[in-house]
Amino acid sequence: MDKSVFDIFREIIYKKSGISLSEKKEALVGARVSKRLRALGIGSFEDYLRYLNDDQSGEEMVQLLDAISTNVTHFFREPEHFDLLSRLLRQGIEAGHRRFRFWSAGCSSGEEPYSLAMTICETCNAADYDMKILATDISTKILRRCINGIYEEKKMDSVPALLQDRYFEREEGSRRLYAVRQELKRMIMFKRLNLSAVPFPMKGPMDAIFCRNVMIYFDNDVRKKLLNEFYRLLKPEGYLFVGHAESLTGMLSGLKAARPSVYKKQSIA
Ligand SMILES: C[S@@+](CC[C@H](N)C(=O)[O-])C[C@H]1O[C@@H](n2cnc3c(N)ncnc32)[C@H](O)[C@@H]1O
Repeated sequence: MDKSVFDIFREIIYKKSGISLSEKKEALVGARVSKRLRALGIGSFEDYLRYLNDDQSGEEMVQLLDAISTNVTHFFREPEHFDLLSRLLRQGIEAGHRRFRFWSAGCSSGEEPYSLAMTICETCNAADYDMKILATDISTKILRRCINGIYEEKKMDSVPALLQDRYFEREEGSRRLYAVRQELKRMIMFKRLNLSAVPFPMKGPMDAIFCRNVMIYFDNDVRKKLLNEFYRLLKPEGYLFVGHAESLTGMLSGLKAARPSVYKKQSIA
């Protein structure tokens, strides 16, 4: 892919997803878009750009964003976040709250929302409360995997054996597959949502938002708008969890650092 074509892809991807690709990503974009060319039987990047432009349904744009997004994730990634969530939930219950809303924003193949659901079920009897998790991602392909909730054995390394027994069923067959039980799935609502297209249709208020290892793909402009939406959707004293590698310094107004990679919405006095 030559530089001028790469720049066109870069601009389209930024406009449609907020994903900001550096010059260094040229080879990666070339390889991923080439897969779409092969799937469609198209011979050049220029022809593909024409095809993308002519596609009134918008389906090819979804496919392109599916191909570009990076979906690395695992169960109980950054485990101290789940310990803190469990403590906060317990405190909320002790304070008499009955309704809890959580959001996994950029949920990838589901390990994050299912880890949230397991944490909730290990903390309380979820059926006694109005408890919901929203799981969203821009990639329809990855969201399908999230909804299916079926994982290969190597994915289960970070799930303690006790939780594997409680929340997964072994699938019969040659490959060792683990299917998430309905008890967890029931708590989760899955939706496609583009985090760079603000404002969002939800009203909130949310108790906690997990948006981890997603904002690293955005520039400060997209990040700021997203953080304003998170602020709007969080309830006073609600929490935002981000990835350990992410710094939000200088971008926060009403959100204050509570500990590394965790931010709290200040309640209005
Ligand atoms: C590296 S994964 C992070 C998954 C999980 N949150 C974690 O920390 O393990 C990043 C996810 O963000 C999604 N993503 C990227 N850009 C997005 C956008 N504009 N809107 C919504 N999701 C997006 C990708 O599709 C991908 O599934």
